[in-house]
Amino acid sequence: MLESCATPLPLLKVAGSKDQEVEVGTENFIPGKVTALVIRTRQMENDILLVKNGEEYKALYLKCTHEGVNLTATANKIYCPSHGSSFDMNGKVLKEPALRPLKTFRTELINNQVIIHLS
Ligand code: FES
Repeated sequence: MLESCATPLPLLKVAGSKDQEVEVGTENFIPGKVTALVIRTRQMENDILLVKNGEEYKALYLKCTHEGVNLTATANKIYCPSHGSSFDMNGKVLKEPALRPLKTFRTELINNQVIIHLS
């Protein structure tokens, strides 16, 4: 299968009540099946990729660090449709022209809710 044709990840639209954070329930992750979600918020221009790794959650901003284009995430890689950069699930550059890793947001787990701090 071509990498660009990989199945898209589940998209979750969240309408957080606070400006600087959004909450995502851990029930949205399914062990062995869904380990990453695309999160769409009203606060941010681009989507956020929320990745579960064991008990850790990592939130990556899906904005290319080359020229700011919206990125496409699959289950194991993140691609830029404009000039072909790619990133791993930690936001590290795998392929240029992008040189900088993806922006990340701080997360914390409280009562089965992953809090993503947007500031
Ligand atoms: S904008 Fe992403 S590689 Fe150029």
